[in-house]
Amino acid sequence: MVQNPKKNQAGLAARSAASEIIWRVLIDGSYVDDAFVKVVSDYNLAHRDRGLVRAISATTLRRLGQIQAVLGEHLKKPLAPKFAHASCILYTASAQILFMDVPDHSAIDLAVAQLRVQRKLHHLSGMANAVLRKVVTSKQQVASEKNVGRLNTPKWLWQLWAKDYGKDVAEKIAEAHLHEAALDLSLKTGSSQLEAVVLPTGTLRLDSGYGRIEDLAGYEEGEWWVQDFAASLPVKLLGDVAGKSVADICAAPGGKTMQLAAGNAHVSAVDISERRLLRVEENLGRVDLSADIICADVMEWQPDELFDALLLDAPCSATGTIRRHPDALYLKKSSDIDALCKLQKKLLARAANMVKTGGTIIYCTCSLQKREGELQIDAFLQENENFERLPVTPDDVGGMDHLINDNGDLRTLPFHGVGDSAGMDGFFVSRLVRKT
Ligand SMILES: C[S@@+](CC[C@H](N)C(=O)[O-])C[C@H]1O[C@@H](n2cnc3c(N)ncnc32)[C@H](O)[C@@H]1O
Repeated sequence: MVQNPKKNQAGLAARSAASEIIWRVLIDGSYVDDAFVKVVSDYNLAHRDRGLVRAISATTLRRLGQIQAVLGEHLKKPLAPKFAHASCILYTASAQILFMDVPDHSAIDLAVAQLRVQRKLHHLSGMANAVLRKVVTSKQQVASEKNVGRLNTPKWLWQLWAKDYGKDVAEKIAEAHLHEAALDLSLKTGSSQLEAVVLPTGTLRLDSGYGRIEDLAGYEEGEWWVQDFAASLPVKLLGDVAGKSVADICAAPGGKTMQLAAGNAHVSAVDISERRLLRVEENLGRVDLSADIICADVMEWQPDELFDALLLDAPCSATGTIRRHPDALYLKKSSDIDALCKLQKKLLARAANMVKTGGTIIYCTCSLQKREGELQIDAFLQENENFERLPVTPDDVGGMDHLINDNGDLRTLPFHGVGDSAGMDGFFVSRLVRKT
């Protein structure tokens, strides 16, 4: 682990924290958000430094493919795995040099200083200085690179998206991951004091520079919750839920539970994770809404009665949220997707037995891969003749027909536009009705 520098050269603690976060993600397999919370607290970083740490960490993860390629050109040979901390210091320094508005000399000096304070890495400081000076000379070459999205996408993921959508769309998907997502908010009722863009279905959108979420108008009062525009669509496909019994069978952390409760449904919010259900309780409490919260494995849970409607927001690879969580590029493996597909199929089969005749199931995932979306529904409909698809109409989604595929399911991609604004999470959503 990178040591916390005691004697702080200006900006050194922030740079060290960013390198340690990258080490925790790439080597230790931590989520970047968890690593951030831990490292920022260990380093006791001031608020003004935290933004910089976040920006360096996110830029490093979004641009790691390009960074590694440039370093590969300038390093005589790759650093041995035992020097992984030094590699992470080079990555974060290169991110600042190549992609951020940071003076080159600061990025280089502070990388060298990070190495100097560590006994086992001290001897690499001269090499780092020389290599990073060469990285500076690569700026122009990097700025003119083409197919940058692909360069920053692990090969196995690129291949999956190219197979599902073709290379041109895959490049647009990967390119969207280079940019930070806007902050989208769902309103509990129709109004808010916030100055924000109102998207066609009522979601509020704030672009960067909004500060801390907790400081935004209406947070304390529970007027809204954070929810990407695309993530708000599955519940909208249920229409008016007032008075209906609705099971939200993979509920935590509760974004969609809040939507259902705000629509006055009788909500049973089920999740297998006690820890994550605490978040559902906290979130419902803040916005003063309620639901029956049930900690259970849906594969074993036996509700007393069948439901009018059910939402299955299934566990998935979450590749649709890479703009917000660029660590997903490096934390997921192909074998994870195999296991998730099996689980999604089982959960969907279980859900089919929980709704009344005439009842609706919304199946959704925030995955880009069709295996976790389109192909799951194809297989389900083939095996369950008592269900049919109720195709999504443009009216269901604020007139945005470009989000509806030929089968009448929703397929959103991270580069899709909404109103005059660009970008949304990648989601697949299908609406199914039980015929008998
Ligand atoms: C994609 S997340 C749900 C997000 C949530 N619907 C929202 O909008 O905030 C999937 C959830 O499924 C839960 N889960 C996974 N397997 C489950 C099972 N067998 N039974 C119940 N919940 C499960 C996970 O704990 C996780 O919280």
